[in-house]
Formats: sequence, C-alpha cells, structure tokens
Amino acid sequence: MSVPRQIRNIALAGFMGAGKSSVGRLVAAELQFEFVDTDEVIERRTGVKISEIFAQHGEAAFRKFECDLVAEMTGWSGRVISTGGGLVVNPANLASLKYHSLVVCLWATPETIYQRTKHQTHRPLLQGPDPLGKIRDLLATREAAYKQADVLVNTEQRSLKEIAAHVLHNYRAAQQQPPRS
Ligand code: S3P
Repeated sequence: MSVPRQIRNIALAGFMGAGKSSVGRLVAAELQFEFVDTDEVIERRTGVKISEIFAQHGEAAFRKFECDLVAEMTGWSGRVISTGGGLVVNPANLASLKYHSLVVCLWATPETIYQRTKHQTHRPLLQGPDPLGKIRDLLATREAAYKQADVLVNTEQRSLKEIAAHVLHNYRAAQQQPPRS
C-alpha cells in the first residue's frame, strides 16, 4: 500500500535559469512560508561554492549532498523549496519530495535559458565552450523527469508575478484535493 501524500510544502523543480529562486521567494512571501534553496543550504553547510564542490570532488559528491538534504526534508512543513536543476532527475529524490510537497516544474526553452544564464558564472555545468548545446542536451535528457512533476508551468512570456500566482493557485487547489502519486 502506498503512503498517502501530505502536501505541506511546495518544491520548485526545473532547469537552471527557469526562475525557481525568484518565483519561490514570491510564493513563500505570499504564503508566509520559509524559502529554502538547496544549493544555498549545501554551500552553507560545506563552506564552499557549488562550483568548487564540482571541481574538487566531482558531480557525484554534489549529488550525494543533494540526496542527503532531500532525506532531511521528510519532516519539513511550511516551506517553499527551490531545488537545484538536477535534483529531481534522480527518481528517488522526486518520489521523496512528492510525499510532502506539491512538485511544480518551471519550464523554458533552451534558447530562453541560454539568454537568462549566459552572463552568469556560478553554474559549473554551463561553463564549457558551448553552453547552448549543453543546455539543449541536458534538457533533452531531463525532460522526462521534469514532466513527472505535479504541475508543469511554462515560464515563457509570463512575468514572475504571474508564474507565482499560478503556483499559488495550484498549491491551494492541492490543499483541497491532493494529487495522486
Ligand atoms: C545544477 C543546477 C544548479 C546547481 C548545480 C547543478 C543542474 O542549480 O544545483 O550547478 O544539474 O542543473 P540551479 O538550477 O538552481 O541553477
């Protein structure tokens, strides 16, 4: 028998540059929830930047930090959780999030993501010679995972406020009727 879902939080998933942190802060303020960014927690705890974790210990070590943090979340409530872009690609992480959170994936095209991220330097996966190609490849491999979210929100042509309102609407609806699995 599967464990019934308890929607006590909102988890924002989606690719780098999809707007998870900006939207998450708006949603958290509206609900008076605590905003938590998984990358920030990992950086605070390890005392080093994500790019240094990747450079010194490799991506696998970073993914382990993410899994450990997801395991801690099972007791959380009243939080908006902005997840690193690769976190829900691990099916165990996604399943665990769904137990306590409405999982909302923010979506944008590779071109839009490239425009939003091209001047930023803090994401190790996008620092290679062909960031747009990398975005296209990664997004293609992750698409199926992202589509497992409870709600998929297209962020193209929408303001942060509109996206936040959409997330809030879905969260409130889920309070009345929790989604299955
Ligand atoms: C990653 C996304 C980043 C960060 C790390 C890896 C990814 O988070 O977790 O650089 O694999 O997509 P953001 O999505 O918040 O940029």
